[in-house]
Amino acid sequence: MALMETRLSKAVLGINPSPTEATSSLANRMRRDGIDIISFAQGEPDFDTPPDISLEAVRAVVEGYTRYTDVPGMRDVREAVAEKFGRENGIRYTPSEVMISNGGKQILYLLFRTICDPGDEVVVPTPCYVSYEEQIRLSGASPVFAPVSEDRSFRIARDDIEPFITPRTKAVILNSPNNPTGAVCEEGNLRAIAALAAERGIFIVTDEVYEHLLYDRRKHVSIAALGEEAKRNTVTVNSASKTYAMTGWRIGYAGGPEDVISGMITLQGHVSGNVCSVAQRALLQALRGPQDAVAAMRDSYARRRDLMVEKINSIPGLRCRKPDGAFYAFADVTGLFGKRWREGILENDLDTAAFFLKEAHVAVVPGTAFRRNGYVRFVFANSEEDIVRGLDRIGSAVASGLKD
Ligand SMILES: Cc1ncc(COP(=O)(O)O)c(C=O)c1O
Repeated sequence: MALMETRLSKAVLGINPSPTEATSSLANRMRRDGIDIISFAQGEPDFDTPPDISLEAVRAVVEGYTRYTDVPGMRDVREAVAEKFGRENGIRYTPSEVMISNGGKQILYLLFRTICDPGDEVVVPTPCYVSYEEQIRLSGASPVFAPVSEDRSFRIARDDIEPFITPRTKAVILNSPNNPTGAVCEEGNLRAIAALAAERGIFIVTDEVYEHLLYDRRKHVSIAALGEEAKRNTVTVNSASKTYAMTGWRIGYAGGPEDVISGMITLQGHVSGNVCSVAQRALLQALRGPQDAVAAMRDSYARRRDLMVEKINSIPGLRCRKPDGAFYAFADVTGLFGKRWREGILENDLDTAAFFLKEAHVAVVPGTAFRRNGYVRFVFANSEEDIVRGLDRIGSAVASGLKD
């Protein structure tokens, strides 16, 4: 194996597979073996794509939208994205300041490669989405992790970031609502972070893929809308995946300063060329068509959030705050540490996730995947029936499968 490994580049040997995908595929394997697994691991909507969007895609195929398109995206789709940023986010981008890509993930990859050189640093507040670290490393830069405390409900502030800025810092990442905590960054803090970025001459990468999944009447604020200087320093990353239940379509987009967007487009020209033409037509319908499905999905997630958090908190040893947004409940499991089960002692969140999977047949992602030991992430984009069944199973496993 060591011989084979030497064939591969240092860049690829230096990255790990996505830990969330590893958990999901283990759960899928157990399922194929006939075990009834309830998965709270996969971070995706459980809804189908709204029918008007799917029908537009069918129409696109029939009408011949089947050829290469412009690499940055079809002109009318870029216009629709620019309109969306104006209408929903209060950011005025021209079509040449936006681009379409294969999901938010590819946008992020192109972005880090476009703005970072080897030796640069990117400040990543933690807990954080799993791909930031590896994507930054692939650009030759180094992630610098800035822990955000649960004492502030994981809501990031300027003083979480400032101590980690050095002359090598190229950018800071914001992700609000956050995966995995669901925390939202408040407007006053966004203003302070925008001022910090301007003072220190760094980019802000803002990942807003969960912007529409906000609860308790919260309103999303985009940092690029907070003034011309903030806009000049910011690249706003977004995607159809979570808002429109379109994870499989692989379609995302970004708005930002023209020099950065044009660098990303040049790179995309060699990485993938254009994004699937049919998916682009679907995005056009998603952005310009009726939005009632988005509100209906959000209301449903809100109900399931309340149910899931209540069920988690009813289990001794587990503790969970109500997330502000997204569809993740990030539960503190340290109350179980030190207890013994048939395979040993629960010493960390990885052990705890393994215990839940093997004893309760419930899949979750350990917090370590998001750079925070002591927690596990539960996805509440699941039916109420499965939320109740899954947490009842964990409750029984904790009650009968653990000893002091
Ligand atoms: C915070 C965050 N950013 C980006 C993405 C990428 O989403 P996609 O590539 O499906 O648009 C995800 C997906 O889970 C995410 O949670």
